[in-house]
Amino acid sequence: MSNTQFPKDFLWGGAIAANQSEGAHLAGGKGLTTVDMIPYGQNRMPIKLGQVDKVTQNVDEFYPSHTAIDFYHRYKEDIALLAEMGFKVFRVSIAWSRIFPNGDELEPNQAGIDFYRNVFRECHKYGIEPLVTLCHFDVPMHLVNEYGSWRNRKMISFFSNYAKTCLTQYKGLVKYWLTFNEINILLASPFSGAGLLFQEGENHDQVKYQAAHHQLVASALVTKMAHKIDAQNQVGCMLAGGNFYPYSCKPEDVLKALEKDRENLFFIDVQSRGYYPSYTKKVFAQKGIQLETNQEDFEILKNTVDFISFSYYASRCASADMNSSNTSAANVVKSIKNPHLPASDWGWVIDPIGLRITMNTLYDRYQKPLFLVENGLGAKDELDENGNINDDYRIDYLRQHIIAMHDAMQDGVPLMGYTPWGCIDLVAASTGEMSKRYGFIYVDRDDLGNGSLKRIPKKSFHWYKKVIESNGSVLG
Ligand code: BG6
Repeated sequence: MSNTQFPKDFLWGGAIAANQSEGAHLAGGKGLTTVDMIPYGQNRMPIKLGQVDKVTQNVDEFYPSHTAIDFYHRYKEDIALLAEMGFKVFRVSIAWSRIFPNGDELEPNQAGIDFYRNVFRECHKYGIEPLVTLCHFDVPMHLVNEYGSWRNRKMISFFSNYAKTCLTQYKGLVKYWLTFNEINILLASPFSGAGLLFQEGENHDQVKYQAAHHQLVASALVTKMAHKIDAQNQVGCMLAGGNFYPYSCKPEDVLKALEKDRENLFFIDVQSRGYYPSYTKKVFAQKGIQLETNQEDFEILKNTVDFISFSYYASRCASADMNSSNTSAANVVKSIKNPHLPASDWGWVIDPIGLRITMNTLYDRYQKPLFLVENGLGAKDELDENGNINDDYRIDYLRQHIIAMHDAMQDGVPLMGYTPWGCIDLVAASTGEMSKRYGFIYVDRDDLGNGSLKRIPKKSFHWYKKVIESNGSVLG
């Protein structure tokens, strides 16, 4: 036993997203989404980053989202395994294009509505509370092709209509909602973050911040709507978290780190405080951005979130002279390599103290409860001669982060729960690999789609079960 006992009602669980797990990409009338157009291999990044002017499918390419781990057909088996670990909460996302295949219809698709109702009922069967992201890196392709996705103001009403349908249909089944997954990622990865493609000669910053404005207004509208539809609803924003450390104590480096943090926190500043922070005026002027807004937008933005959810994989590092040759992009946000930290096989630094720092920063800034909705170690797993997976490296990573989480709570930061990422192995968002695994449950499938899709609990499965059973006091 350690002294890491968590509060009685702490929500232990795990997280997945529709686009990386469900597969069945055209089943039940589902429409194509952005992620369905992103292949595995060398053409992946240019599309994700919006560096192409048109996206089409190519028969020679492999698209990991089309089958993913087939959660669509196997959700009962999967949820039963999560229940065996003692999950109290399960974070999933709804694929917008299952509910509205094109995105701009007035009436929803019944098969899509039924699918998620069944998933949520299955969770409740085991006393698991769903935590639902409305948009996790997937925009219906029709909205990209017809309207230019989030650059277009019409997206606010399409998204609100979709969200209203979900909030109404799943009233009583879901009470924890997130609007946009890692909303700040649209700056670094505009196609996967917001369905954005650019025309020749366009000011990319103008397009990205205009899209961000539309998402922020849509998020606030949906927050208001959620509270009206059911007073039990709690709505969170979702930040791709991890503070920037100054590379040195040189004031220029410290200033740069502050500016880089603001690029990310800008979104949460608006979603949590209800208005544009004062620093945006100068930043927008420098970048040549002139937002098109309606007067009513600023009233709508006052509908702020109830809690701050965030992902944390790694901290980041900034210096005054950072540039494309001395930075790399763990989780697409560019950072200088921190020489004091070890890194995963994919170069993501491992920094549990950074989690404590991030949590303290977020709570100091917003004074709202936090929810850590993604965290984990992407690693290659091997089956031993008995077919077992001894993922001690993953246990070690998670243990250290749970201790850091607990330390932050001792510092006075309220944390509602913890949903480590990819609790069942799934497709990696960045690389499209299956071999970059996060799960407590192994899925037999490789990077090119071979494998039986069989599920095998790993050593970490049994470890996490004990963590939950002991409410964090056995980290063994
Ligand atoms: C977050 C995303 O950025 O990081 C997830 O919300 C993603 O969708 C996760 O899977 C881990 O990144 P990756 O690229 O290792 O899957």
